[in-house]
Amino acid sequence: MKELAVQKCISCGAEYPSHEPIYSCRACGSLLEIKFPWLAETDGRSLASSWEHRSRTIWRFKELIPITGRVVSLMEGGTPIYLAEKAAKWAGVREIYIKFEGLNPTGSFKDRGMSVGVSKAVELGRKIVVCASTGNTSSSMSAYAAAAGLKAIVVVPKKGIAAGKLFQTVLHGAKTVQIAEGFDKALGSVLSKAVGSEVYILNSVNPWRIEGQKTLAFELWTDLKNTDYFVSVPVGNCGNISAIWKGFKELQTIDLIDRPPRLVAVQAEGASPFVDMVKKGENVLRPVENPTTIASAIRIGKPVNWMKALKAVRESEGLAEKVSDQLILEAQRILASEVGIGVEPASAASLAGVKKLVEKGLMDKSSTVVCVATGHALKDPNTEIISPYLSRRTLSLEELLKSV
Ligand code: F0G
Repeated sequence: MKELAVQKCISCGAEYPSHEPIYSCRACGSLLEIKFPWLAETDGRSLASSWEHRSRTIWRFKELIPITGRVVSLMEGGTPIYLAEKAAKWAGVREIYIKFEGLNPTGSFKDRGMSVGVSKAVELGRKIVVCASTGNTSSSMSAYAAAAGLKAIVVVPKKGIAAGKLFQTVLHGAKTVQIAEGFDKALGSVLSKAVGSEVYILNSVNPWRIEGQKTLAFELWTDLKNTDYFVSVPVGNCGNISAIWKGFKELQTIDLIDRPPRLVAVQAEGASPFVDMVKKGENVLRPVENPTTIASAIRIGKPVNWMKALKAVRESEGLAEKVSDQLILEAQRILASEVGIGVEPASAASLAGVKKLVEKGLMDKSSTVVCVATGHALKDPNTEIISPYLSRRTLSLEELLKSV
């Protein structure tokens, strides 16, 4: 029987059957991705017409999500896309759309990948799942493990994890290990201790996670009907931008689009190893030892998926930019108080990056940009972020009523 999907090494091309729980190539150690041997012969138009009539979750695209067993879903995906005129004016471009991933079941884009990853864990007969996280992956995995009846273990940084995310993680029932170091160390210890065990790893190094997250590209295409725009993505571990690229490449393979959009990778100034590599035209990532930024979700110095993301940005003739925490918070404020969309700081980086690229003359003012707003504002109610807003409100109610 023809294989529905294979796991293929992105560097040496070695292939592994889809039922093998494996996270890197046994031959060369590189990253794996899921490939469909039948994709090039597929009639994209007839696929797309079946997508039209299904309910708006990621599973609407089920032909391109190779899960054969029980699907674990909390109705993820189908998030709204808004035309945000005031954000476009602020950033200095013609048109900005905000794809609001904060409206997924646990408040971030991670739910797309976790629905597929946890379904894969069930298919493989695994009873325990594990991940390292800056907080959103762990919130999502904890919820989906609960929905599937699996046990969840997470490793998170003790300092700097956003309160909302830590609460979700423990509320949904994950056994939570807090470590003194940051995300990179947490992921390092998950990979060194859990690979080869019966516990299933659900970080984005797991190629099945990417299969869920790529559906964002399918949704952009079904909603906007073209690809004549930039897609700006906040980058941490480099999984999401790689997934979005994979989605667009698959649409191209089945002839639904001529060419994918150009991708924009945005990182925070204190945690920008990927952006620095792209800007310098280098081919190897130099890790940042002590990453710092107010955007705790992307406080990552050693992104594991950098190789996939580099290919994505280069092949798409994309751009990369780093932004200050101040600009991130300004973009967050604009989205919340002028557009009505509340996002966490990491998510606002996608908009901040556009403004900086335009100011530097690297992005044309006539551009249309889709900014991926990866997580909800409620995730991260840090006092550092709230206090400037509160200190502005010093008038009494009577004074305020008189002043309007
Ligand atoms: N935005 C948010 C809100 C995130 O939580 C993350 C990653 C990213 C962007 C970056 O995505 O890692 O695929 O490049 N959060 C991970 C976590 C690391 O553990 O929740 P990426």
